[in-house]
Amino acid sequence: MTYKEKIDKSRLPAHVAIIMDGNGRWAKQRGYDRIVGHQNGVTSVRETTEAAAEIGIKYLTLYAFSTENWGRPKQEVDALMELLVGTIEKETPTLNKNNVRLLAIGDLARLPEGAEKKLRNCLKQTENNTGLSLVLALSYSSRWEITAAVKAMCQEVKAGSLNPDDISDETVSSHLNTCNMPDPDLLIRTSGELRISNFLLWQLAYTELYFTETHWPDFRKENFYQAIYEYQQRERRFGKQSEQLTTENGEPKNNL
Ligand code: IPE
Ligand code: IPE
Ligand code: MG
Repeated sequence: MTYKEKIDKSRLPAHVAIIMDGNGRWAKQRGYDRIVGHQNGVTSVRETTEAAAEIGIKYLTLYAFSTENWGRPKQEVDALMELLVGTIEKETPTLNKNNVRLLAIGDLARLPEGAEKKLRNCLKQTENNTGLSLVLALSYSSRWEITAAVKAMCQEVKAGSLNPDDISDETVSSHLNTCNMPDPDLLIRTSGELRISNFLLWQLAYTELYFTETHWPDFRKENFYQAIYEYQQRERRFGKQSEQLTTENGEPKNNL
């Protein structure tokens, strides 16, 4: 039986986020330049997007470029920008065909001018699609996002449109780039690194974490389905006792 067949379709995660890591090591192991690893990672993005759409996942967020990645050598940053924007442009007709809505989170103003324009154009072209939402984290870091949210809330307080006493969890969430999205249920990180690397710190509060040794360019549909299957074997307690989950609201245990 494949992992795809083993998945319980009635208990799918609404939102899966992925830290796509290991492109450089994948290339190095094969004696290639790092950019070849990034190029091969595009196939994995395509496969994973298709895999998510096939089973009806609502949100898939991919960490494509972090704020910290701007600190890499210029040659790699330039090549990555070209690859990212070129791929997005090339794939937009396919996204439209498959009813996929492309979204972006991050400090897009930091992208090279041409790249930002091209990206915004692709976002516009898919904005009315109603299937999978594919969220690209580009020039993204969680501390940047939270800092921007704090600044925006302070401005509203100063202008008199926000009362500090009314600030709640939801107020903070609604000032993040991810407003209107559910928090991730499952986070996958490839290539064996056991860290979050400044990704969705607020949103991951109760996310199930899944780490795999597989490098991103080797990641295929069955790897994605395996992660979802393993997520479904876990019990999400959200601070409660296991026994409470069976009784409250009459819902069955493990109703994720
Ligand atoms: C992930 O692969 C892609 C980006 C961060 C843009 P890496 O380039 O980090 O690959 P490793 O971790 O060096 O192997
Ligand atoms: C995280 O990967 C960022 C992306 C996947 C875009 P990195 O490879 O940059 O993370 P660190 O620096 O090893 O933590
Ligand atoms: Mg890395």
